[in-house]
Amino acid sequence: MPDHIATAEANANFALVKYWGKRDDQRNLPAVGSISLTVTGLCTRTTVCFREDLDTDILQMEGVAVRDHRLYRVTRFLDMIRERSGRSAAAKIDTSNNFPTGAGLASSASGFAALALASCHASGLSLTESQLSELARRGSGSAARSMFGGYVEMHRGNAPDGSDAVAEQLFGPDHWPLVVMVVVTDTGPKSMGSTRAMELSRDTSPFYRSWVAGQSQDLVSARQAIRDRDFELLADISEHSCLKMHGVMMASRPPVLYWNAVTNTLVHCIRELRTSGVPVFFTIDAGPQVKVVTVPAYRDRVHAAVRSIPGVRQVLETKPGPGARIVEAE
Ligand code: DP6
Repeated sequence: MPDHIATAEANANFALVKYWGKRDDQRNLPAVGSISLTVTGLCTRTTVCFREDLDTDILQMEGVAVRDHRLYRVTRFLDMIRERSGRSAAAKIDTSNNFPTGAGLASSASGFAALALASCHASGLSLTESQLSELARRGSGSAARSMFGGYVEMHRGNAPDGSDAVAEQLFGPDHWPLVVMVVVTDTGPKSMGSTRAMELSRDTSPFYRSWVAGQSQDLVSARQAIRDRDFELLADISEHSCLKMHGVMMASRPPVLYWNAVTNTLVHCIRELRTSGVPVFFTIDAGPQVKVVTVPAYRDRVHAAVRSIPGVRQVLETKPGPGARIVEAE
């Protein structure tokens, strides 16, 4: 393979302690650290080819040429790679997801992690995992975490240049084989992108300061819960982090409300299951889908319960998986 083309794959990740808010918009530096789980089953595969014969970057998603803000965002990202590698050529980028498009699951985390890795290899840049994570963060904050597999912590960092705002693996995927179900409740585009919604929260939510102030303690508890495989503690802290984040959003002006009626029903269903002794909890990101976490012994029971709720479109089952990797192009 010539050195100007490379293909990478990266998995999505779901935050157990959420990232919400930025301390520097320009460098995309998070206001808080976060902890996530990288999962199999929701994977992006991206090929980057730098070509001297191109005047501008070409982006193909699922084989279809894209010329909107997504191309702009990818070009801005590749400009950083060009600057660092001294390569000036434009690139053709082919990217596809192994999960149904239009399922409301498009993930900037797996997308930018795969783009960061593929474009570095294609341009001949040799970076450490930590530097790759930093680079992926410039594309999207949550992408920094998808560079690593299993249980991952993203550090808020303190350096103004963002060099310490990177992710690291806490434990590999085999440390704790949890089951994560992605319950799809709506297949349309989300009402507001997370970048804009975070800005609104920071600028207008009366709860934003206390959200930021409480994060260190949540991170300590989640680290301990994962280390000790303490399901109850992880369930408590994850649901608390998720509900706090949505509380911050809802109190913004204008309010940011990602939940629909089915999201709400699912939250109650999971809470009832948990009260009846089932080890299960929910988490929700910047959209109406619900991620349900349980242990293998309760998989069927939890699956049946969420599937029976009217309005649930699809349930995708995932488990802890590996980080971003270079693969052979087909
Ligand atoms: C709710 O990583 O999409 O999923 O850095 O602006 O691209 P940008 O934001 P993004 O935000 C993810 C927010 C979240 C919580 C999380 O994944 O921690």
